[in-house]
Amino acid sequence: MRVLALTTQKGGSGKSTLAASLAVAAMQDGETVAALDTDPQGSLAGWGKRREANGIAVERVEPAAIKGAIDRLRRDGRASLVVIDTPGYFGAGVALALREANLCLLPVKPSILDVEAARPTVEQIRVLGRPFAFVLNQCNATTQARTLDAATALVSTGALAPSMVATRSDFLDAMTAGQGVTEIAPKGKAAVEVRLLWQWIKAQLAGAQA
Ligand SMILES: Nc1ncnc2c1ncn2[C@@H]1O[C@H](COP(=O)(O)OP(=O)(O)O)[C@@H](O)[C@H]1O
Ligand SMILES: [Mg+2]
Repeated sequence: MRVLALTTQKGGSGKSTLAASLAVAAMQDGETVAALDTDPQGSLAGWGKRREANGIAVERVEPAAIKGAIDRLRRDGRASLVVIDTPGYFGAGVALALREANLCLLPVKPSILDVEAARPTVEQIRVLGRPFAFVLNQCNATTQARTLDAATALVSTGALAPSMVATRSDFLDAMTAGQGVTEIAPKGKAAVEVRLLWQWIKAQLAGAQA
């Protein structure tokens, strides 16, 4: 069982949105996915409630209870992948969640403010000693200059996912419908980008304990 945590101290970067669509893309790729929402805002849990399609159990978990929830899933033996959504601030609860992660994925918007705001998150992840990667999200689908500037700033960390995710209405529609973008518009560009991102994450997780 591998654990993927979506995290950044910046609200609005796309943690919950990507958590939902990555969970679905992973499920469609044969994973048995459990999703844990540790954010009091409950965006991912709300998505799970709206979700009528089968396949992904979404639970709200108090940060203090995260280790217990993961241990229970591990004992249960059914889930092959756990996706954890975290709030847009750092605290003891987030640290507990990240400690369990085989990979911390940090969505960052292609803006200097967001790139700089990601630094403290990276410092905390480094203290915890967990593997991490950035993914540029909400990129402009047509103009690439700002995306390239942000990519240049992040690539030097050696931890930038090579596939980027553009701003696309499929993500909004999918969140509303309780679906992933690969369900609501399987042939759309958002679906292509999320599948690529999932395949890259899967390769990163391959070295982690099953
Ligand atoms: N790739 C995307 N395309 C379009 N809208 C997006 C995308 N990613 C995030 N959003 C939107 O941006 C806002 C913040 O996303 P959200 O997932 O709630 O971020 P976070 O969980 O990091 O606070 C939401 O309104 C969401 O619908
Ligand atoms: Mg969120």
